[in-house]
Amino acid sequence: MIEQQIKTAIRDIHDFPKPGIIFKDITPILKDPELCTQINDAFLNKIGDLQIDAIAGVESRGFLFGLSLATRLGVPFIPVRKAGKLPHTVNQKVYELEYGQATIEIHTDAFNPGDRIMIHDDLLATGGTVTATSQLIQEMGGVVAGFSFVVGLSFLKGLEKISPISSNIIVLAD
Ligand code: PRP
Ligand code: MG
Repeated sequence: MIEQQIKTAIRDIHDFPKPGIIFKDITPILKDPELCTQINDAFLNKIGDLQIDAIAGVESRGFLFGLSLATRLGVPFIPVRKAGKLPHTVNQKVYELEYGQATIEIHTDAFNPGDRIMIHDDLLATGGTVTATSQLIQEMGGVVAGFSFVVGLSFLKGLEKISPISSNIIVLAD
């Protein structure tokens, strides 16, 4: 089963990047092309007939499956980048981290008003990153059609944070 395969492949790295943090290392998944195909298949299966006009993937690990999923769906991929990386005109959102702030940006012409956008990231932790992404997409006139994650860390309450934004939430393993 895909959930068990994902859990088996993910490597827990203790005390990275700081003491007390257990980092979920997805690089073993990326070494396994058959598992990567199965992950995309599982996303497509769960998306079903949900109408999606684009996939927005969050830098950087949200790019890994975000682009392949968009390609399989036959829809555009929207890179959501950290500040200062996108070359054309951007809209941006500043959001709070546990300590300090972060900024994400999307090109102003990345999608059309009214487009139904699924936000993708590798991992749902606190939900702060994808909530900020949702707010930026909505401010730009987009509709958040749902969320997709390879892994969700259920103890961090990210699901509670994002469920008011869209009830279409796909988490392959938690
Ligand atoms: C990690 C992960 C998610 C985010 C989840 O990214 O890839 O994007 O944190 O955390 P949250 O739900 O609490 O917002 P990170 O910022 O480590 O950057 P990276 O993807 O560039 O490695
Ligand atoms: Mg990330």
